[in-house]
Amino acid sequence: MRLTLRRPDDWHLHLRDGELLRAVLPYTAARFARAIVMPNLSPPVTTTAAALAYRDRILAALPAGSDFQPLMTLYLTDNTPPEEIRRARDSGAIAGVKLYPAGATTNSDSGVTDIWRCEAALAAMEEAGMVLQVHGEVTHAEVDVFHRERVFIENILAPVVERFPRLKVILEHVTTADGVDFVRGARDGVAATITPQHMMLNRNALFAGGLRPHHYCLPVLKAERHRQAVLDAAVSGSARFFLGTDSAPHTRGSKESSCGCAGIYSAPVGIEIYAELFEQAGALDRLEAFASEFGPRFYGLPLNEDRIVLERRPWQPPAEYRVGADTLVPFRAGETVSWSLVSA
Ligand code: DOR
Ligand code: ZN
Repeated sequence: MRLTLRRPDDWHLHLRDGELLRAVLPYTAARFARAIVMPNLSPPVTTTAAALAYRDRILAALPAGSDFQPLMTLYLTDNTPPEEIRRARDSGAIAGVKLYPAGATTNSDSGVTDIWRCEAALAAMEEAGMVLQVHGEVTHAEVDVFHRERVFIENILAPVVERFPRLKVILEHVTTADGVDFVRGARDGVAATITPQHMMLNRNALFAGGLRPHHYCLPVLKAERHRQAVLDAAVSGSARFFLGTDSAPHTRGSKESSCGCAGIYSAPVGIEIYAELFEQAGALDRLEAFASEFGPRFYGLPLNEDRIVLERRPWQPPAEYRVGADTLVPFRAGETVSWSLVSA
């Protein structure tokens, strides 16, 4: 069986830089027309100039003939000036601004310590029509790691959505029933991206027969009822929920470590795995809207005009991909994925 889809976009992606960028970019570019590129490099991409320079490096790393388009983001800090927001908008190359609560995840140390220090920047974003992309977790040590999304929504996200009524806000990689309910019931201009791992796995997958570092990402996998809520939202046909892989490569050495990095590298199965999950949910007919329509509509961008073809042909992602002296372990390594990308 074959499935022809309007070419999808990835609305949440980590491409890294240098050798890693060159290793991972071809997998995304083979599947997706555009991707929202996260700014959590080291140092973080806090200015328009840095974002445009990063964009040039991405374009230079593309395989010959690819017309993949990186949609850049700025990394919000306590001190992002409103002028920087306007510069970003005027550049035409920057699609949004990412809020990392300080300390929430990889390279978030320069993130926001108090959202109300960002009022001027948020007001400028609202005015400029720039999207706020939110990593929705509080970081206080006293809040249980499984409750960080819910507490963030109560303490920060809901007040921000109310204080800036025209600001477009995306709760990135929603992981809980609380998050899904919030987005469903919110005013217009509030949406969420959904990763394959949060549709597919619950937190048992972190401990299946032993500690599983390649299933560790942030926000961390949740209990089964939350996975079910996230899956239901993805396949529901609601335009508020759309595809964002959060593919986040870390080398095998930095994952399999006494203090392993958070992130699941899903780019090599980036669309195939959603097809599998939608098929299992009996919702294959809703995949195209989730993958290729709701995202551009939310961002106010045109739909892609070309198509990709998937085939219901099982394959096994390799155990690892070589990158210089190290390797990357992809999501579903060595397992069977039921859908394949048919190369053009
Ligand atoms: O698992 C994650 N990895 N979550 C994030 O928020 C960041 C990402 C990364 O950059 O590795
Ligand atoms: Zn991410």
